[in-house]
Amino acid sequence: MADVKISDDIIYIGADDKDIDLFESQYVVPNGISYNSYVILDEKTCVMDTADSRVTDKWLANLEKALNGRSVDYLVVQHMEPDHSGNIALLAEKYPDMKIVGNAKTFTMMKQFFTLKDLDSRTVTVKEGDTLSLGRHTLRFIMAPMIHWPEVMVTYEESEKVLFSADAFGKFGALDTDEDWACEARRYYFNIVGKYGVQVQSLLKKAAALEINMILPLHGPILKEDLGYYIGLYDTWSSYRPESKGVLVAYASIHGNTAAAAKKLGEMLEKNGAEKVVVSDLSREDMAEVIEDAFRYDRTVFMSASYDGGVFPVMEDFLMHLKAKNYQNRKVAIVENGSWAPTAAKVMKTYVEGFKNVTLAEPIVTIRSALNEQSEKGLEELAAEMTK
Ligand code: FEO
Repeated sequence: MADVKISDDIIYIGADDKDIDLFESQYVVPNGISYNSYVILDEKTCVMDTADSRVTDKWLANLEKALNGRSVDYLVVQHMEPDHSGNIALLAEKYPDMKIVGNAKTFTMMKQFFTLKDLDSRTVTVKEGDTLSLGRHTLRFIMAPMIHWPEVMVTYEESEKVLFSADAFGKFGALDTDEDWACEARRYYFNIVGKYGVQVQSLLKKAAALEINMILPLHGPILKEDLGYYIGLYDTWSSYRPESKGVLVAYASIHGNTAAAAKKLGEMLEKNGAEKVVVSDLSREDMAEVIEDAFRYDRTVFMSASYDGGVFPVMEDFLMHLKAKNYQNRKVAIVENGSWAPTAAKVMKTYVEGFKNVTLAEPIVTIRSALNEQSEKGLEELAAEMTK
């Protein structure tokens, strides 16, 4: 078990997963992922969420060690996604007297995922603001719908002033990974929770009324110090404000001519004094990383080859993701390439017009097969417009 010290009464019992190929079958996690879970030891014992069935053995061993022979009185289910609910059935069977705490939506979903014998006689249904006393510790439940499923709730423990934050403040990467928090927390946030900025804002407002000493998320490190830093980033991200000034040039190139133009545009932007320029190949780079960058910076250039009377598929995939994640409040530009009938700009523009509060820079540049004097001049104009 990762060596995580929380307090004398709150014990970390989660587990790292470094063998997973793709988290949620779509995100590369070079440093794995942690499924966090906690047990509170008091007059009553309480487990805060279970863990993915991929780590059942490790998680159960950690739980038994922490319990030191005691039984489990309560299981609080903050989130029903299988990376946290994977061992509810096992725990319910192992501790037949254990009560299961959730909200009305939790139990609807629980019944969809699995059949638990006599579940209705074991449930404790809570709603916003309800409390549960374990002895010295009191849990207060705060509904956090759509962060990142509708049944999600977070839990504030009043005596130690800790917030069990469910997926919020989570991060990719196993707990023993020594890496910057923001980078992998940002990639996690925009790809997994990003669509639900409004809901995150509403949770942040509720959290602002609490005195919080520690944040205990369901993935990634326990946050103990400088909580204002993490909460500040969550406020920026969830309000769709750019975090940094800079230009992302995201390109979709078939044979390399659009790629060459993208690199050229990147150089022009740098020469013009852009604070930061990131040039990303949508065919080869981690899509989740490029999505993260689109939200991180205040400007994006979409550059794509035409294909089958539309846009090259990886660009459409990128734009669809941005649409789904509510991309907004940015300045963007469009560059297309086409050898006989350029069609990419039309498709990209349709997406851009669907984004809220996004300014489209002029001109839209068309490259005919490869950069020439005229299209290069167009890029110069665009670089000037994107850095003015
Ligand atoms: Fe970590 Fe939404 O599950």
